[in-house]
Amino acid sequence: MKEYSNVQILDHPLIRHKLAIIRKKDTDTKQFREVIKEIAMLMAYESFKDVPTQEIVVETPLETTTQTVVKENSIAIVPILRAGLGMVDGILSLFPAAKVGHIGLYRDEETLEPQEYYCKLPTNIEEKVVMVVDPMLATGGSAVDAVKMLKKRGCKNIKFMAIIAAPEGVKKLAEAHPDVKIYVSTLDRCLNEHGYILPGLGDAGDRIFGTK
Ligand code: PRP
Ligand code: URA
Repeated sequence: MKEYSNVQILDHPLIRHKLAIIRKKDTDTKQFREVIKEIAMLMAYESFKDVPTQEIVVETPLETTTQTVVKENSIAIVPILRAGLGMVDGILSLFPAAKVGHIGLYRDEETLEPQEYYCKLPTNIEEKVVMVVDPMLATGGSAVDAVKMLKKRGCKNIKFMAIIAAPEGVKKLAEAHPDVKIYVSTLDRCLNEHGYILPGLGDAGDRIFGTK
């Protein structure tokens, strides 16, 4: 696959270990959910290396010092419903003050085209770093549309995080939105004829919510 300067693969042995767990078809809903959350937290640690910061004055028991902290009100997390919801708590465990917006999109099973059904975003989202999250980047249709919706509302600093990506989805998103930094933990082989990622993990939403 062509290399894109806006795409980063967050490869780490610990993430690989956790990926093996969520790929296993016998992993139950409880463990699947827990591990999705843990991977999201590990990915957030790395992908927010450039998080906005500010200086504050801190009194230690011994003296006054200037310290660097995460800038207040600077981050929004936007899960793509449903499966993106599974990643939110992992990121909030690192950024508990982040605001959370929701974009509802589902793929039409025949055409694979994303259908929008919900959008509720934090006020002043255009001033924040927005991390769009979805465990699966398959054809890329949902991700491309979600980013479009955010740009329409004035967002300028948008990142996208997926746990598993197909080359087709990475290409589509990276080319449609070259200004968006894309973080994935693994690049899988390809899509099957139904638009599922191979080897993948199946339907992420169904596995997180136990709907099948
Ligand atoms: C899945 C997944 C992504 C989308 C990826 O959601 O969570 O949102 O498919 O596919 P794409 O890259 O081809 O657009 P789905 O539409 O199954 O909805 P769900 O999360 O409600 O199950
Ligand atoms: N959505 C999923 O949940 N899984 C896939 O493999 C592709 C799209």
